[in-house]
Amino acid sequence: MAKIDFGGTIEEVITSEEFSIKKAKETLKNETIAVLGYGSQGPGQALNLRDNGFPVIVGQRESESFYWNKALNDGFVPGKTLFSVEEAAQKGTLILYLLSDAGQMATWPSIKKCLKPGDALYFSHGFSIVYKDQTGIVPPVDIDVILVAPKGSGRTVRTNFLDGSGINSSFAVFQDATGRARERTLAMGIAIGSGYLFATTFEKEVFSDLTGERGVLMGCLAGTMEAQYNLLRRHGHTPSEAFNETVEELTQSLIRLVAENGMDWMFANCSTTAQRGALDWRHRFRDAVAPVFDDLYQRVISGAETKVVLKTNSAPDYREKLEQELKEIRESEMWRTGAAVRSLRPENRRKK
Ligand SMILES: NC(=O)c1ccc[n+]([C@@H]2O[C@H](COP(=O)([O-])OP(=O)(O)OC[C@H]3O[C@@H](n4cnc5c(N)ncnc54)[C@H](OP(=O)(O)O)[C@@H]3O)[C@@H](O)[C@H]2O)c1
Repeated sequence: MAKIDFGGTIEEVITSEEFSIKKAKETLKNETIAVLGYGSQGPGQALNLRDNGFPVIVGQRESESFYWNKALNDGFVPGKTLFSVEEAAQKGTLILYLLSDAGQMATWPSIKKCLKPGDALYFSHGFSIVYKDQTGIVPPVDIDVILVAPKGSGRTVRTNFLDGSGINSSFAVFQDATGRARERTLAMGIAIGSGYLFATTFEKEVFSDLTGERGVLMGCLAGTMEAQYNLLRRHGHTPSEAFNETVEELTQSLIRLVAENGMDWMFANCSTTAQRGALDWRHRFRDAVAPVFDDLYQRVISGAETKVVLKTNSAPDYREKLEQELKEIRESEMWRTGAAVRSLRPENRRKK
C-alpha cells in the first residue's frame, strides 16, 4: 500500500506493484469466481479475469439472447463456463453481482438463496446496499460484502486492459465475515485489471458516483453544451461553427491537454485572449451551477434519485423508451452536425 499526497491529503493507494497478479492468484486460488450479468461491466471484468489467468464462470439469463450470445461469442461454454444467473451464483464462492442495479433488486430473492457461508458478494457500485430500504438487498451476516468500482465503462475496463494501461477503481469492504474480506477485495481489484485502487466506502462511492454522472461527467456536460450551441444558433452562427466552438474543439484539443497535465496547463497553452476570458468566466459559471449541484447532492443522499432509477429502469418498456430518447438526441440538429463534423476529420475521411 502506498501513501499518496493528493493535493495535501494523504490517501492509501494500491497498485499492481504492491499487490501483484501473482499475489492475487495466491489469494484467490480456492475461489470459484462467478460473474453474474454480461451487459457492460460483466464482459469487461470477466474477460480481463480470464486473460489474467483466473478461471471464471458467467451467469446470464438465456431468454434475453443478446447478452447470452455475446458470452457465447466470447468463448464461454454452456454447462461448463456459462450458466443461468442462479446456477452460477450457486457454484460461485466469489460472486460478482454485475446485473444492472434494477436487475439486482429484481433477482435478489433468488440470488440470496444461492449464497453459502463464507462466500463473498462483490459489487461494482454501492447502490444496492446503501439504498437497501428501496432495493431490499440485505446480505446474510455470514458472507463478505465487498466492492471494486471501476471508474469508467465496462468497455473501457476492457480496452484499457488490452492496451496495457488499466483503469483506476475504488474499493471498499461493507461486511467482513471471514476476516479475509479486504485481501479478497484487493486481489479482485488487481485481477480485473485495475491500474490502481483507492479506498472508499459503499456510501461514499454511490454518493460521488451518482453525483458525478448526473453532473460534470455527463448530465451537466450535455446540458451546458446544448445551452451554448443553442445560444450561438439563435444569434445566427452556422451549425458547423456552433458545434466546433462547443464540442469539437473541446474533445479534439482542449480536454486532451487537461488530461495530459491539468487545467492550468490547458490555460497556459491557449491564446492569452482565451486565457483571460476563461479565467474570469469560470467564477460565474461555478457560482451559477453551485445551487444545482447542491440540489443534486441532496436528491442523491435522500434516495430521490434512486427512486427514479429503480422505477424507470424496472419498467418492461425501459429499453424502447431509452432508444426513443437517444434517437431524439441523435437526430437533433446539434448532433447531426456532430456526425458531419466527425466525418470531416482527416482520419475519418481517409477511411472512406
Ligand atoms: N456500465 C458502467 O459504466 C458501470 C461502471 C461502473 C460500475 N457499474 C456498475 O456495475 C454493475 C453492472 O452494471 P452494467 O452497466 O454492467 O449493467 P448493464 O449493462 O445494465 O447490465 C445488464 C445485465 O443485467 C442483466 N439483467 C438486467 N435485469 C435483469 C433481470 N431482471 N434478471 C436477470 N438479469 C438481468 C442483463 O441481462 P438481460 O439481457 O437478460 O436483461 C445484463 O446481463 C452495476 O452495479 C453498475 O452500477 C457500471
